[in-house]
Amino acid sequence: MCGIVGYVGSEQAAPVLLEGLSRLEYRGYDSAGVAVYSQREGTLSVHKAKGRLQVLSDLLQGGAAVEGTVGIGHTRWATHGAPSDVNSHPQVSQGGKIAVVHNGIIENYAELKAFLVDKGVTFVSETDTEVVAQLIEYFYDGDLLAAVGRVLHRIKGAYALGILCADTPDQLIAVRKDSPLILGYGKGCSFMASDVTAILKHTREVGYMEDGEIAVLTREGIQCYNHLMQPIQKEISHVDWEIDAAEKGGYEHFMFKEIMEQPEALRRCVFPRIREGEVWFEDFGLSEEYIRSIQKIYIVACGSSYHVGMVGKYNLERLTRIPVEVALASEFRYMDPIVNDRTLVVVISQSGETLDTMAALREARKLGGRILSIVNVVGSSIARESDEVLYTWAGPEIAVATTKAYSTQMALIDLLGLYFARILGTVEEQEYRSALDEMLLLPAKMEEVLADKDDIQYFASQYFNHDSVFFIGRNLDYALGLEGSLKLKEISYIHSEAYASGELKHGTISLIEDGTLVVALGTYGRLFEKAMSNVVEVKSRGADVLALTTKSHEKEMRETANAVITIPDTHDLLLPSLGVVPLQLFAYYVALMRGCDIDKPRNLAKSVTVE
Ligand code: M6R
Repeated sequence: MCGIVGYVGSEQAAPVLLEGLSRLEYRGYDSAGVAVYSQREGTLSVHKAKGRLQVLSDLLQGGAAVEGTVGIGHTRWATHGAPSDVNSHPQVSQGGKIAVVHNGIIENYAELKAFLVDKGVTFVSETDTEVVAQLIEYFYDGDLLAAVGRVLHRIKGAYALGILCADTPDQLIAVRKDSPLILGYGKGCSFMASDVTAILKHTREVGYMEDGEIAVLTREGIQCYNHLMQPIQKEISHVDWEIDAAEKGGYEHFMFKEIMEQPEALRRCVFPRIREGEVWFEDFGLSEEYIRSIQKIYIVACGSSYHVGMVGKYNLERLTRIPVEVALASEFRYMDPIVNDRTLVVVISQSGETLDTMAALREARKLGGRILSIVNVVGSSIARESDEVLYTWAGPEIAVATTKAYSTQMALIDLLGLYFARILGTVEEQEYRSALDEMLLLPAKMEEVLADKDDIQYFASQYFNHDSVFFIGRNLDYALGLEGSLKLKEISYIHSEAYASGELKHGTISLIEDGTLVVALGTYGRLFEKAMSNVVEVKSRGADVLALTTKSHEKEMRETANAVITIPDTHDLLLPSLGVVPLQLFAYYVALMRGCDIDKPRNLAKSVTVE
C-alpha cells in the first residue's frame, strides 16, 4: 500500500523517481507525486496529481520539467483522505521546508494534529502524513536528524518515511517501522524504495531496513542508525534477478504473463527440493525431534495465501495426522489463539509485508510458537522475522491478483506435508512415491491446461455478462472454489461466492434460479459422486452449470453440466494446483471482456501494509 522512492545523486532526480514509481504503482494508484530540491530556486519543487502515475508523468514531461538532483516520490493507496491532488504525497510542512512521503498509518495523528493546531499550525490535507511533515518542522532547529528523532518518539503506528528538507538538500532521511523500505547503494548516488524493483535499473546492491532504523542518504553513501540513534553497519545484499522478470515482456497484462509463467515457477520451486526421491529443504532448521513434538499446526495468512492455507489444512492433516487450524491473519491477533511451544505456525505471504500477517506472526511468537514462513519476496519482513523460511522462488509478481505465487505456495505446503509425513511415518511408501512423481509432472501437466486456454476464453465469452456467480465444491474443491471466486470478483467486479456444496441446502440454494451461473468443482475423485449430486441439485433449480473436473470424470460430468472444463488426472493432493489454472484464466478473460483494469483492480493494492 503506497510506494516510496527516493534518490540523491548527480542525475536529474525527477525522471529517476518517475521510473521508480512506475515499478511501484502496483502498491497503490490513487495518485502520485514528487518533491525535488531545486538548486536554481533554493526551494522544494513539489508536484502531485490525482489518478494514475501517467497523469503526473505527462504533467512533468516524464520528469524533464523538474530541475534538481535530490528528491522523493510516492504512489498512493488512499487511507486518510480521499484521492485528490491535495491529499497526495509528498506532504509539505507549512513553512515549505519539509517534504514527506509515507507508507503506512499514523494511528495517533488526530491527537498530534490537535496539538499542532493549538500551536498555530494550519493543515491543508486530510492525511495522517501531513502531521509528520508539520511535526518535523515544528521540532526543527537546524538539526534535521534530531527533529526526526523527536518525531519518532511521538508518532504511533506503521510507517516507512522518506524525508527531504530544503535546508539540507544533499541528503534524504529514510525511516522504517512495520512498513517495508530498502536502501540502494549506487556509484555516487543512493536510493530508498518500498521494493527492489524500483531501483534495480540503477543498482543491485541493497540493504534491508529493520524496524526502528533511520538512514541518512547522501551521494557519498548511506549512514544508518538504530532506534537509539547509534550508528550501525548495514549488511549489503546483492540482488541477482533481472529487471525483465518484472516487465510485461510482450504480454498485454502482468496477470496473463504470470499465469503463463506458472509451470516455470513450479520447476524453480519444486525440482531442487526433490532429491533422490526424497523431499529436501536446504538449510532447514526443523529437526526430526522437533517435528515429532509438534502437537498442532496453525496456518495464518490473508486472501489467496489464506486459500492456500485451506488446501494446506486438508493436505497436511491427511498426510501428517497433526491437527491443523487455518486462521485469517486479521482475526488471529484478536481471537486469543491457543499457541504454545509445540505449535508450529506456518505463515504464508507472497509479499512478506502484509501487515495483518506480520502482526499475527509476532503474536504467535509471543505465545511461544515456532514460525515457519512461506514467502516469495526474498528479504521481506516476514521472511526476516521467521525462524524458518521456505521461499517460493516464483519471481516478481506484479499483478494485484496473485497467480504464480499461489501455485508455488501450494506446492511448498504439499512438499512440507510430505516431508513431515515421511518423518512421522504417517504416509504409505506408495502414496509418498506417487505424490512426488506427480509433483515432478505438475509443470508439464499445467502446460497442458494452459494450452487449452482458448476453450476457457470461449466459456468466458459465454458467461461474462452474468452479475452473480457461485463456486461450489467439497473438501479440496471447496478450498479451490474460494480462490476461483476471489480471482473472479477481484478483477471482474462480478459478485461471486464460494460455498461448500453440502452447505447450499442450508440457505444459499434459495438464490439459485433460472440462469444463475454455478461453477461446480468436481476434481476430487473421492467425493466425485457427491459433487455430481450437487450439480443435479442446482441444475434442477435452473442453474447454468460450468463444471471443472478431471479427464477421467469428464464423460459423467458432461451428462449433467451445461459445460465442462477438464484438467489432467494427478495425485489427489495436487488437484487444486492444476484446478486453479482454468479458474485464473476464466477470471482473466471475463475481466478482459468486461473492459476491467486487470492488473490494477479498483480499490486494491498488491501489498497490504495497513491493518
Ligand atoms: O502478499 P500476501 O500473500 O500476504 O497477500 C495476501 C493477500 O493480500 C493477497 O493474496 C490478495 O488476496 C490477492 N490480491 C489475491 O489475488
